[in-house]
Amino acid sequence: MCSAWCTRKRVCDNVSHVEEPDPKALDQLFNRVLRTEDTVLTATRESADAAGMPAIEVSAQHGKLLYLLATVARATRVLEIGTLAGYSTIWLARALPPDGRLVSLEFDPKHADVARANIARAGLSAVVDVRVGRAIDLLPALDGGEPFDLVFIDADKPSTTEYFEWALKLTRPGGVIVVDNVVRNGEVVDPSGRDEAVEGMRRFLARLASEPRASGTVIQTVGAKGYDGFALIVL
Ligand code: SAH
Ligand code: DHB
Ligand code: MG
Repeated sequence: MCSAWCTRKRVCDNVSHVEEPDPKALDQLFNRVLRTEDTVLTATRESADAAGMPAIEVSAQHGKLLYLLATVARATRVLEIGTLAGYSTIWLARALPPDGRLVSLEFDPKHADVARANIARAGLSAVVDVRVGRAIDLLPALDGGEPFDLVFIDADKPSTTEYFEWALKLTRPGGVIVVDNVVRNGEVVDPSGRDEAVEGMRRFLARLASEPRASGTVIQTVGAKGYDGFALIVL
């Protein structure tokens, strides 16, 4: 029987008990069964909501995936582009050793303030450096430093290709690049789509395909954040 795992039932022709899954409800179920979020992460999401910020942070399961990727990469240096309230930041920073470092770039000073408070509540202020400004202006200062083990690109979508170019420059061989929001409800394949975010993602995919150092895959996702996807790239 479907019982707790069943979120909705559909009856097709003579076949009953064929279940049409509800990805959002299933995400809630996984979050609950696996206890994916602790109180710090929940408070981080709530603080963003209270500050009137959009709920565009990664889902809890996706946040956990970022944590796991940083863990398997044995990352000690992480770069994030697009902080918002620090939700993905906290997931990634939790994978780092005490002497690790995460630099997160955020355009909006209000977002950065909310994020810093959340990062402090998470006990990660010594590990995380939130820098305020346009990412494209902040990235050159990172050149020449120790390379990053993992870069998470999740800011203004039209600039994704430029951020990917910087990630190629700043990431060590064998390092990981994750690019969020590549699928956007499938709009990425619609050639008539004129949305500049979608065009930005198509341009990024073409650039990824042309880069001999990069080996990448696009994974489509459903769940709490609807139908989207991310690119996972190893150098
Ligand atoms: N990574 C976050 C979500 C980021 S939302 C999480 O999953 O929790 C995208 C963020 O990028 C927003 O906070 C927005 O202010 C920021 N942003 C937009 N344009 C930017 C730019 N040019 N440079 C840096 N940050 C930018
Ligand atoms: C948007 C941005 C994101 O990073 C995301 O995960 C979802 C939506 C947006 O700008 O609409
Ligand atoms: Mg995103």
